Amino acid sequence: MTSNKLRIGIIGAGRIGKVHSETLAFRLPDAIPLAIADVNLDAASEVAERCHIPRVLRDHADILKDPEVDAVLICSPTETHADLIISAARAGKHIFCEKPIDHSLSKIDLALQAVKQARVKLQIGFNRRFDTNFARVHNAVTSGELGTPHLMHIVSRDPAPPPLPYIRASGGIFLDMTIHDFDMARFLAGSEVESLYASGAVRIDKEIEKAGDLDTAVIVLHFKNGMIGTIDNSRQAVYGYDQRVEILGSKGAIATENRFPNQVTLSTGSSIQRDLPLNFFMDRYAESFESELSAFVQAVLHDKPVPVTGQDGRAATVMALAARKSVELRRPVQLEEVGHSAP
Ligand SMILES: NC(=O)c1ccc[n+]([C@@H]2O[C@H](COP(=O)([O-])OP(=O)(O)OC[C@H]3O[C@@H](n4cnc5c(N)ncnc54)[C@H](O)[C@@H]3O)[C@@H](O)[C@H]2O)c1
Repeated sequence: MTSNKLRIGIIGAGRIGKVHSETLAFRLPDAIPLAIADVNLDAASEVAERCHIPRVLRDHADILKDPEVDAVLICSPTETHADLIISAARAGKHIFCEKPIDHSLSKIDLALQAVKQARVKLQIGFNRRFDTNFARVHNAVTSGELGTPHLMHIVSRDPAPPPLPYIRASGGIFLDMTIHDFDMARFLAGSEVESLYASGAVRIDKEIEKAGDLDTAVIVLHFKNGMIGTIDNSRQAVYGYDQRVEILGSKGAIATENRFPNQVTLSTGSSIQRDLPLNFFMDRYAESFESELSAFVQAVLHDKPVPVTGQDGRAATVMALAARKSVELRRPVQLEEVGHSAP
């Protein structure tokens, strides 16, 4: 590193690329967004103009060749992640990669191997760990405040399904959406999952079924520490983004509520009302996107371990593959059956 600020290249200027570019440009004083590449040059130019990013490119290879770039953010579609991690590692760039790393464990293992060989840092974009509410739940479990944990419930419902082309390329609800909840479950429990049973349905849009996916699911998790957990997923909660967690332990329970744009209640002669929760991830998790990137920047600048590793990314993918298998076979699946142990 030749500068005391981290100079970053962003690959992909879509939904999440925009969020991260704005965070780097306006909220992280120790980071400089130096370049952005997108196969859609107009998308890259638009973000670059808004975020004052000087180098705008079509080809990510030009970012990897740039000696002034210290680190890259991989914000392109999932199927590009593993190859980009390998190329970035070989180019000696530190890497922040959006979730999931890939849909295939063998490709994930190749990517993690390249990172290890190049001795660069890799952080995976499980931003929900950085949400202050969920971090507090994690602390209550790991500090022993809750006693022995018994039960965990994760409610994770999107306001509306993504576009069908996104769904077709997403790898399915478990690899695209539940993957965050799988990571959250491991993080909050402080324990690995041993086996799970997943049940899924299409209740929202038959086109999702034609695309080979589910839009509604429940997963029962059995943890190594004995706790039982559930994840409740829907692609459509008409009242907005529904993100809640409850854990019950021998000394009590801890629960998080949704976040709202205001704290107002409107009381009339017929009802007491409040406004709907923050609508989607860009608003609900704005702070956590900032905190996760800040943690990555500080880890690279001060040569500290990253808080969310490639192995965390792999573990969540194992859970997603196990859930897919469980739905197909209509039975509980041991994580070992889908390749639990990392190489
Ligand atoms: N952490 C989160 O909460 C979160 C939220 C949304 C998306 N994501 C993840 O981020 C990734 C991107 O999702 P999105 O919703 O932003 O998708 P998107 O389709 O909105 O954006 C992807 C962008 O990447 C560009 N692109 C495609 N191939 C490229 C390449 N080879 N080089 C450079 N650019 C390329 C596309 O033109 C597009 O502009 C996915 O892996 C997704 O799972 C994470």
